[in-house]
Amino acid sequence: MRLVFLGPPGAGKGTQAVMLSERRGILHLSTGDILRENVKRRTEIGKKAKSFMEKGELVPDDMVIEMMIETIKTGNKDKGFILDGFPRTLYQAKKIDGELEGLNLPIDTVFYFKTSIDIVIFRLTGRRLCKDCGANYHIKNMPPKKEDVCDKCGGELYQRKDDSEETIKKRLEVYNSQTEELIGYYRGKGILKELSGDLDADVVYEEIFGILKKDL
Ligand code: AP5
Repeated sequence: MRLVFLGPPGAGKGTQAVMLSERRGILHLSTGDILRENVKRRTEIGKKAKSFMEKGELVPDDMVIEMMIETIKTGNKDKGFILDGFPRTLYQAKKIDGELEGLNLPIDTVFYFKTSIDIVIFRLTGRRLCKDCGANYHIKNMPPKKEDVCDKCGGELYQRKDDSEETIKKRLEVYNSQTEELIGYYRGKGILKELSGDLDADVVYEEIFGILKKDL
């Protein structure tokens, strides 16, 4: 099972990818997480990506494509993989399609998380993450049991730099101008499944699971 999770920032792509990966053992590859890890470790990729990410802009295509091809090639793909937040431009989509076809691993389903703008802004401004294990919370929707402390590992929670209202607006602009056209691209290939990202996380999961269950 080889999936792409496509949708605006805050649509819940990462949340669903983690649920599916933890429950079904599918490899979860988030470009955002991989880039943030590179920034943290101050790698060459991280140094180049940092300023783009902080401004809410896309990191240059070729850098992201190369990084993802390498990650896909080296990961354990026995049960398939989920590409979360990648591809994000038509150029990335065409490039990765060519590469994956060459590896005999074409994408079989693309989930498009259709989500309202006010919900996206509410979710992202309230998102908190664990510094140690990366677990994801929302101060109102999915609060930790103890304020600013991770339920899973006791680590400290923090807010992503690009989750300020101003940068969220920029990320949405970038999504509308550069990523939205992928909906038509994948619809044309007949592999797009549309779902409402506005619904509760468990409801969204059930919908995804319902579509995939014959192959899980
Ligand atoms: P990335 O990390 O991919 O950010 P994003 O796409 O903007 O997506 P988010 O992680 O913000 O949202 P999400 O849909 O995963 O939502 P989540 O599940 O966390 O990218 C960051 C940056 O990296 C980019 O701006 C760019 O610079 C660079 N980059 C990444 N990929 C790139 C690429 N391919 N090319 C070039 N540059 C790239 O949920 C959000 C919040 O809502 C959480 O608090 C969660 O708890 C809550 N929540 C989730 N689902 C629900 C629900 N159903 N109901 C209620 N609350 C919910």
